[in-house]
Amino acid sequence: MSDQPSPYGSAPRAQQATRVRISHLKQMKVDGQKWAMLTAYDMYSAAIFEEAGIPVLLVGDSAGNNVYGNENTLSVTVDELIPLVRAVTRSTQRALVIADLPFGAYQASVEQCFNTAVRFMKEAGAHAVKLEGGIEVLPQVEKLASSGIPVMAHIGFTPQLEHQLGGYRVQGRGEDAQRLIDSAKAFEAVGAFAILIEMVPGDVGGAITAAVSIPTVGIGAGNQCDAQVLVWQDMAGLRTGRLPRFVKQYADLRSILHTAARDFAGEVEAGTFPGPEHTF
Ligand code: KIV
Repeated sequence: MSDQPSPYGSAPRAQQATRVRISHLKQMKVDGQKWAMLTAYDMYSAAIFEEAGIPVLLVGDSAGNNVYGNENTLSVTVDELIPLVRAVTRSTQRALVIADLPFGAYQASVEQCFNTAVRFMKEAGAHAVKLEGGIEVLPQVEKLASSGIPVMAHIGFTPQLEHQLGGYRVQGRGEDAQRLIDSAKAFEAVGAFAILIEMVPGDVGGAITAAVSIPTVGIGAGNQCDAQVLVWQDMAGLRTGRLPRFVKQYADLRSILHTAARDFAGEVEAGTFPGPEHTF
């Protein structure tokens, strides 16, 4: 049980001043209190999500696709992610900010992983890091946890291994479920503070959640996980094209922005903007 006040309570969450800590997340699992996580990559989105009561923000390597316009998450670099993490930590007071370690920046060795994680903590102010993989990255998770760097392990479908996994495929079907349960337990044993589970059958997400005492965060892993995460541009309806089944769009921000930009252009072309009220 944490000796710190909970970041939640009867007051609206946006008014809480306490920084969300990994101890709060563990306690929320004990209390059966579910929570939401969103990605964030910039000042305004981060501040809005915190104000809306999102306790955990992930500066995901999905910035590769959603900020830098790459085809997938593989090519984004530590140097590209650090300024985004810094923007999110600078513009929030309460959210726990997790930095995603990008492909190639932690797999080579425990030392490489440690050095990358330290850069995110020192240069960007991250409160925790996340990394993808199975038991091959257990030594990395153990080193970070034992060095005071909270680490979330990402299992199931791991986008950085897209080419090895043969594309975007649901993982953990049939007998493979046990492998994921075992890796979640192994990550807990070496000190991970949470497990992110991506694209597995709902009952497997539930089995992993029941097998560990640390929180699980699902994305396409059913509703038995302790928390849920979505990429914010998916959640808010900015993205076009075919969406993964696990995405729910809670707004149509694309239409709103489209209309605003079109109206602005129309008024400029018609000479009605700027009007006298916008003129010195
Ligand atoms: O980078 C990312 O956006 C992720 C998602 C699974 C949330 O890791």
